Amino acid sequence: MTEGKTHRVTLIPGDGIGPEVTQAVVRILEATGVKFEWERFAAGAEAYEAQGEYIPAALYESIERNRVALKGPVTTPVGGGFKSINVTLRKRFDLYANFRPIRNLPGLETKWPGVDLIVVRENTEGEYLGLEHEVIPGVVEAIKVITEKGSTRIARFAFEYAHKHGRKKIHAIHKANIMKMSDGLFLRCARAVAEEYPGIQYGEHIIDNTCMQLVMHPFQYDMLLLENLYGDIVSDLCAGLVGGLGLVPSANLSAECAIFEAVHGSAPDIAGMDIANPTALLQSAILMLRHLDEMAAADCIEDALEAMYRERKALTRDVGGTAGTSEFADAVLAGMG
Ligand code: NAI
Repeated sequence: MTEGKTHRVTLIPGDGIGPEVTQAVVRILEATGVKFEWERFAAGAEAYEAQGEYIPAALYESIERNRVALKGPVTTPVGGGFKSINVTLRKRFDLYANFRPIRNLPGLETKWPGVDLIVVRENTEGEYLGLEHEVIPGVVEAIKVITEKGSTRIARFAFEYAHKHGRKKIHAIHKANIMKMSDGLFLRCARAVAEEYPGIQYGEHIIDNTCMQLVMHPFQYDMLLLENLYGDIVSDLCAGLVGGLGLVPSANLSAECAIFEAVHGSAPDIAGMDIANPTALLQSAILMLRHLDEMAAADCIEDALEAMYRERKALTRDVGGTAGTSEFADAVLAGMG
């Protein structure tokens, strides 16, 4: 624990199961002894109803000031309505790197025990700029933007991470056989950065084959480097390898700012029932603690969490248990001693 330091963190509980899992995680974080000052904000439809803005100006200011946020899921309307809050925040703070470590939890039976993958996704370009328009009735164009700057910095992020953390191999995942110019540029940038890191093996796989390979032979991969849309899809596939969306953490990073969030959505089908699994947000909070240099607190929560899974104690329904969200949090707290 950083003695005496209070971390001011922007907290976005979100909607659906967001408030339930956030409450559980905040209780656990506060029990570590690390001091937090939470600046709490609504976002999305809830914020719009209360304040007439999907992302209140005060929320932007809070993230700008604190440079670190913990975020629950926010519902995004499909096929119309307001723009995704996640996409908007990533763009606004240029959070170009989406970082998702994918590891098995002990005691949780999956097809492949021992998965240990890192997915690095470019977070600000590709198809996610929302550049869509109707050319003539019945014809819609969507523009995918890939830049040399964006591709080079995400490749450098991946290689730098591998270099610092002893990872051995990076595969750039693409569809450059069809998207010859855009994915071709992404690959050229990845190759150029790879040359600067001769100690790290570099490979390239086509996205469709990669999906099959991940399901059948996941151990051939160590780190995956992907554009925005491919990364979005493949990271959920990878979550499936280790037990599902309720488990896997993620961080959205720039050099100056970080937003930590679970990879799952607002799960309206189980909202308000106290059965959601808070593990994904808790694992994201562990990443946040490490980012804040609170290593002991991060290890303490991680040890308690892994012991619970190992002993199959107080697990939620999505992973074969019967416990509720708050009972799960109680058990983590008890395990932290
Ligand atoms: P979802 O992740 O909310 O739910 C998919 C399935 O997984 C559901 O059956 C749900 O009950 C289950 N699930 C998800 N998280 C769980 C948890 N923590 N514990 C137990 N079960 C869990 O995905 P869906 O239904 O596609 O999206 C719902 C809404 O969430 C949409 O509006 C979507 O846009 C939004 N969304 C928001 C995200 C974010 O804010 N980061 C990310 C993904 C989706």
